[in-house]
Amino acid sequence: MKIYPIRGTHDLYGEEIKKFNKIIYEVKNTARKFGFNELITPIFESSELFKKPLGEQSDVVLKEMYTFKDRNEDEVTLRPEYTTPMIRAAISNGLLNNLPVKFFGTGQMFRRERPQKGRYRQFNQINFENFGSDDFFADVEIINLAHTLLKKILPDSKITLHINSLGNRENLNDYKKILSSYFNDYKNKLSSDSIDKINTNPLRILDSKNIEDKEIIKKSPKLIELISKSDLNTYEEIKKCLNTLEIAIFEDTDLVRGLDYYCNTVFEFKSNQIGSQDTLIGGGRYNGLIKTLGGKDLPGVGWAGGIERIMLLMDDINFVDKDIHLAILDKEYKIHAFKIYDFLIKNNFSVYWNYKYNLKKSLSFANEKKADFIVIIGENETKSNNFILKNLINGDQEAVDLNNILDYIK
Ligand code: HAM
Repeated sequence: MKIYPIRGTHDLYGEEIKKFNKIIYEVKNTARKFGFNELITPIFESSELFKKPLGEQSDVVLKEMYTFKDRNEDEVTLRPEYTTPMIRAAISNGLLNNLPVKFFGTGQMFRRERPQKGRYRQFNQINFENFGSDDFFADVEIINLAHTLLKKILPDSKITLHINSLGNRENLNDYKKILSSYFNDYKNKLSSDSIDKINTNPLRILDSKNIEDKEIIKKSPKLIELISKSDLNTYEEIKKCLNTLEIAIFEDTDLVRGLDYYCNTVFEFKSNQIGSQDTLIGGGRYNGLIKTLGGKDLPGVGWAGGIERIMLLMDDINFVDKDIHLAILDKEYKIHAFKIYDFLIKNNFSVYWNYKYNLKKSLSFANEKKADFIVIIGENETKSNNFILKNLINGDQEAVDLNNILDYIK
């Protein structure tokens, strides 16, 4: 029997796991600085949690959810995103009393999309949510958090912040009607994918990649024309604040996002170095969503980032710790070897032995693993209570003892 990984899933190991862990480390650090607490939710939930809030006509609900009946005939879904489970958890556990509350979480999400570079069926997301504040400070803060985190992880990458305002829910519903009627006039020219969305989900036509669709979209009515004065003022304030924080923005009037729960501010951090799946982080405001899920009528704002996509932009991680291998020439020198093994670990070096009493094999193993040093322990060393330290980069070697080895390997 040969068992393969399921299409769209992947294993993480080697260099990739170092990058993954670096991201998680920076996420936790940044969360602490910005006052967000971790919230871990189950990987599966009742399907109802996702259907209405994400949009009955959204691609995620229509085509991508992993939904199945368990042995009790209850319909469950592997979470396709983290915002709705976080709200469910905040409501279920009575966490929405002392507002605002700020949560973050990381974990696997599941969407049955067509796999390609940066797009998987099981992938890992970082998620930050702020529940209970309508103040635009919360919008700026959550965008600044994303920017700060990306700068920590990817200091040298060019990442662009796209931003738009969708106005309030009523503006958005009016806009959908206007768009449907506009696209109906071009029914014969639009791609078949877009035609399917004219009456059910016209906003999604705006991010069609089809060339003819793009021409029609260019002349479509713009949402900004419908937005109320006060919502526009808030949007201006947000842009001003981002400017003060020196976060460059690209105003993208076609940015609408794929899930149905958004209103007002929406944003995406994009890179042009990772192919067509170019959005690293996406989010926005979702006033009304907490109420839809059975909670109080509270506003909310947040974002999620794709860990695999961020990893595509990361360089290999070289730990500052030196890698030191051991070459123990015979069983009888093991106790002497343990002294140095223990000493090096306690001094924060990473120490490795291949469990073979063979200098040649230990040396070639250490070279293969790109170790910095090898410590050779044989009869003379045991008698003289010292060790041979060989620098694998320049080939120098020296007899050292525990008192002076740190001078050589720092
Ligand atoms: P989303 O845009 O669907 O938003 O996903 C957020 C990020 O997850 C994307 O920008 C991308 O980096 C990553 N992602 C999505 N699908 C895949 C995939 N199939 N493979 C790899 N990475 C993927 C949300 O999920 C919202 N819940 C974000 C949010 C939080 N809005 C407010 N709060």
